[in-house]
Amino acid sequence: MLSPSINYVGKPAISVPNKPVIRWVNPINVLWHGSCFAHEINLRIGNGMQMTAELEALNVQLTDKLRAFENLQVIHLEPTQGCNLRCRMCHVTFEKTKPKYLNIDDIDWDFCRRKVVKIGAVYEPLIHPQINKLIEELNRVDAEIVLITNGHNLNKKEIPALSESKIREVTFSFDGVTKKTYEEIRQGGNYLQTLSNIEAFLDQHAASGARFAINMTVMKSNLAEVPLAPLFWEGFGVTALRFIGMVARDTDNYVVENNLWDCRDDYFSALDDALDCVKSNRLNIGVSSPYYRQRYPDDCPDGIFTNHLSNIDWRSPHNMYEYSEITPIVNKCISPFTAVTINCDGLVNLCQRIPIGSLYEHSFDDLWCSENADALRREVVLNHEVCNTCDYFKFCIKSSYIDVSSPDNYISEHLRQRLIASSS
Ligand SMILES: C[S@@+](CC[C@H](N)C(=O)[O-])C[C@H]1O[C@@H](n2cnc3c(N)ncnc32)[C@H](O)[C@@H]1O
Ligand code: SF4
Ligand code: SF4
Repeated sequence: MLSPSINYVGKPAISVPNKPVIRWVNPINVLWHGSCFAHEINLRIGNGMQMTAELEALNVQLTDKLRAFENLQVIHLEPTQGCNLRCRMCHVTFEKTKPKYLNIDDIDWDFCRRKVVKIGAVYEPLIHPQINKLIEELNRVDAEIVLITNGHNLNKKEIPALSESKIREVTFSFDGVTKKTYEEIRQGGNYLQTLSNIEAFLDQHAASGARFAINMTVMKSNLAEVPLAPLFWEGFGVTALRFIGMVARDTDNYVVENNLWDCRDDYFSALDDALDCVKSNRLNIGVSSPYYRQRYPDDCPDGIFTNHLSNIDWRSPHNMYEYSEITPIVNKCISPFTAVTINCDGLVNLCQRIPIGSLYEHSFDDLWCSENADALRREVVLNHEVCNTCDYFKFCIKSSYIDVSSPDNYISEHLRQRLIASSS
């Protein structure tokens, strides 16, 4: 494999303190056991009854406990719909809409009090003109912040409120270690400026207790840089490097040519080389990929390899809060009981994509306990067909469990449906 030279040298590695990890237990696990609803379902399935029609006919009501506000653990917040970059593989590049921004002043942020708020998984959050105001509101209600960003405009953007925040994790997305590759993929991006922004941010927040991660979305054009990435980011003091396989979301030429399925053996061997690098150099940085879980289930049960596993609870908020092994729900997804997504129109969505109403018109509490919300919750429990084609579950909630040996997992459901429709 071709090895490009690295033309940016980060700072010397820091050492990771040896502190014990406290693994978080989802309180809703306890509720499932105590709930008569769960009990009734278990009983009926246990008696050999069908999950669907008979149970639906019973019109089982969700108990107040299962829809209680206390069960809400994580709020996914998309303050914008738009971006300052046009990354080759990203849905934003194929959307032709103008940027939109959430109206921060029209929302009562009290519902975020002491919750985990994950900002910007789908669009770029830091382009919001009032991003500092949003962070101030979240600080006021003592929210814990998880941020994902391209980091590109941090040098121009003043966000002083972040230094007062309870930050759990900041992820920067950066898809290569060389200028050429980064700027080819992250169209409109400036390699050196962004690295300098990341470095300055890490310096400024080094004492915050937050962890810092890099998402490297892997495709054919940056495969050769996968094995170089751990050493590169180690120098910045980054905790985690996530290798995310590109999911084709469009039939654009670049996406098709750079699909990973056609070069999967090279993909797997590049991931192996990256893992070897972390192991043999005893690096502080950890690496993750669903491939590691499949290939090395003993060493990487959650898809993560680190020489310091005991130090950090690595699970993503999705995996921590939206999945529970002990529910009676068939696929174990508890997202509509524990999470919401707020999009830039003020809409509150359950299951990421199903709207239950607008925060501009209703209080959060009314929406969370609304008939719309309960109807969806009943549906996912009683007739989980709605879950069968759920990309959110596959690529977000259970992302570390993606089966990398199946071509189905290299393409989005939305694109698959489009292709099926156009071929028939
Ligand atoms: C859509 S971005 C939004 C947040 C922010 N703008 C950023 O780039 O981090 C979230 C993550 O999705 C990744 N991503 C974008 N397109 C993807 C694709 N087709 N397949 C897999 N991940 C993708 C990005 O690299 C980034 O890490
Ligand atoms: S920076 Fe993030 S949201 Fe913007 S185009 Fe790139 S991946 Fe998509
Ligand atoms: S639709 Fe998706 S997010 Fe919602 S419960 Fe089903 S699998 Fe989970």
